[in-house]
Amino acid sequence: MDTRTPSRPGRLTGLRRHTRSTVEPVDAPTEQDNLVVRGDNLPALRALHPLVGACVRLVYIDPPYNTGSSDYLYPDRRSRADWLSFVRERVDAALPLLRGDAAFVIQCSFHQSAYLEVMLDQHEGLHKVAVIHALVRHPDRALTADKQFNDVVEQILVYSPDPRFRMPGRVRERDPADYRWRVEATGPGTPLTLGGRACTVHAPGEWRKVDAGPGHGDFRTHSIRGSLREKNSSGRFWVTHLEPLGLPPMTLISVPGIGDDGLGHRYFHTPKEGNRNASYFQGVPQSSTHTRLPRPNFLDVHAAYNRVAAEGGVSFRNGKKPESLLQLLIEWFTEEGDTVLDYHLGSGTTSAVAHKLGRRHIGIEQREWAETVALRRLRNVIAGERSGISDAVGWAGGGSVVYGELAD
Ligand SMILES: C[S@@+](CC[C@H](N)C(=O)[O-])C[C@H]1O[C@@H](n2cnc3c(N)ncnc32)[C@H](O)[C@@H]1O
Repeated sequence: MDTRTPSRPGRLTGLRRHTRSTVEPVDAPTEQDNLVVRGDNLPALRALHPLVGACVRLVYIDPPYNTGSSDYLYPDRRSRADWLSFVRERVDAALPLLRGDAAFVIQCSFHQSAYLEVMLDQHEGLHKVAVIHALVRHPDRALTADKQFNDVVEQILVYSPDPRFRMPGRVRERDPADYRWRVEATGPGTPLTLGGRACTVHAPGEWRKVDAGPGHGDFRTHSIRGSLREKNSSGRFWVTHLEPLGLPPMTLISVPGIGDDGLGHRYFHTPKEGNRNASYFQGVPQSSTHTRLPRPNFLDVHAAYNRVAAEGGVSFRNGKKPESLLQLLIEWFTEEGDTVLDYHLGSGTTSAVAHKLGRRHIGIEQREWAETVALRRLRNVIAGERSGISDAVGWAGGGSVVYGELAD
């Protein structure tokens, strides 16, 4: 890892556009060109700014983790303060290349992740979105016996310049079979005003819950517990107005003006004898056909790590990441045509995956493997190589990449 901190932006030289069948010199990259730049990423990022502007939708970097190891192709050993200022300077240089709605994703290991997180949390240009813990090795697969513990989890820190940035959720289609319950009131009930709403209370013997079979009822039920008690309007109404009444078990309360199921009211019932949690009945929502669920902050990608060596038709024993992990991140945070930047390109995984997914990509790598590994891998991709995510996305080859070097 180069510790010099050049102050002036660099200049790109020797630019050549590689297609499946041609290699031609170019004066300057166009707005659509994919780029691989060999050079120190600090001056390279600064050199790119006037050429590409603020176009990047996703930065993914996998910098040297500063593990203290000398087993890599370069010694991965610096003082913590030195490593943090190395990362910080490059984050500062990358930020002007980002769109306002970009995601900034850094993968690292326990060696520095806590310090990196504190440093990024304090960065005035970034807002924390998520910390994802990725299982990258089978827990039973110990590499060496001389460690304090088997390090099988890495951290993926997600930030954005946009304080309103939201992690994309998982979308669950609504299942009509969930709606199996009917509510039959057998008496008029007792009026009671709660929170300014004209509610009706049905004593336990004055109503019935009827199972009409999957898909044949009006309602599904939700138990009011956990985050539902605070994060949902029905849960909050229960906690604020109904729970404190201490009504007998299995009392039904009809509350007007809650819910988007078009019924105009929502039924709650107190817990069964011996149970803790109340429930409410929800009819089919009118507003959407699906539910958005947050993603867990855990990814099990260890199986993909086992296949990584052969990916891209290049070997690289320096922290090569699985294509399917990059696919996941690129699909979460970008759309087709968006630009993805990786300024610790290594073997070129990020660019290879971005290419196969129809994203524009810019990669920077200081060492000779910018050309001997990353460019070679991208030329394989352009020629239609079949490893990694190729089959899953129907990759058949095509496109081009411009390779250049940072002038001294
Ligand atoms: C862990 S590797 C990245 C591996 C990559 N994610 C992959 O899948 O192949 C980190 C890379 O950052 C590169 N690097 C370190 N310092 C750099 C710098 N100042 N400028 C550009 N690249 C740098 C290293 O040479 C190394 O290839």
